[in-house]
Amino acid sequence: MIDLENKNHWYDGLFYDFLIAPNQDRAFVHVRDFIGDGSTLLDVGCGTGRQVFQLANKCKKIDGIDPSVRNINVARRKLASKPVNGVEFHHADALAFLARKSRRFDYATLSYVIHEIEEKERNTLLQTLSSAARKLIIVDYLVPQPRDGRRMLNEVVECMAGSDHYRNFKSFVAGNGLTGLLERAGLTVLSEQKNDPPSSHIVLAVGQSVYYHT
Ligand SMILES: C[S@@+](CC[C@H](N)C(=O)[O-])C[C@H]1O[C@@H](n2cnc3c(N)ncnc32)[C@H](O)[C@@H]1O
Repeated sequence: MIDLENKNHWYDGLFYDFLIAPNQDRAFVHVRDFIGDGSTLLDVGCGTGRQVFQLANKCKKIDGIDPSVRNINVARRKLASKPVNGVEFHHADALAFLARKSRRFDYATLSYVIHEIEEKERNTLLQTLSSAARKLIIVDYLVPQPRDGRRMLNEVVECMAGSDHYRNFKSFVAGNGLTGLLERAGLTVLSEQKNDPPSSHIVLAVGQSVYYHT
């Protein structure tokens, strides 16, 4: 389990919000297309909340969770300066949050999160989320990575994020990315989008266990 007090990366906070998160906008458009109007959604690893704000007018309730206090503080400050009905941010890691709350969601989203989770925790996280949400939408690096400059850029970015981070990224790639992960977790892919934006993989998936109650 992640230590909530110390889960900050050097780039979290305003640096992430201004320089990194905007690169994900194209992926968030596809995520939005997968979501039905008036849904409830849990955004796991919401960062500074960019995806949450882009989905807010399509959903009736969104909970964003993140163990990085610097990221969640930026998200909360943005929400305070421009309140949006139905949006809440929580400082929490995914498993701890779901253990405390018995709530169920229409969707759980994980955008560029699963590659940075410890390999041994990924399967548990996916199983737990597929019990808590009717459908999962996961965005991450496309594996195999395209054989162009993007591949090198992704390696450099992940390497600069730190040694633990890089080790997790490498194990994600070695395990055949989202395709391998979902197969091993026994999740069924309902729809997917590859390489738009370049070197990304976006998946709509559903689990076998359905404990969802409306
Ligand atoms: C690369 S950022 C992506 C942020 C956001 N989803 C986006 O696409 O802009 C990954 C985020 O996942 C969060 N994270 C890492 N481990 C997590 C966990 N166990 N539960 C929830 N969030 C986690 C990190 O703190 C970080 O904010």
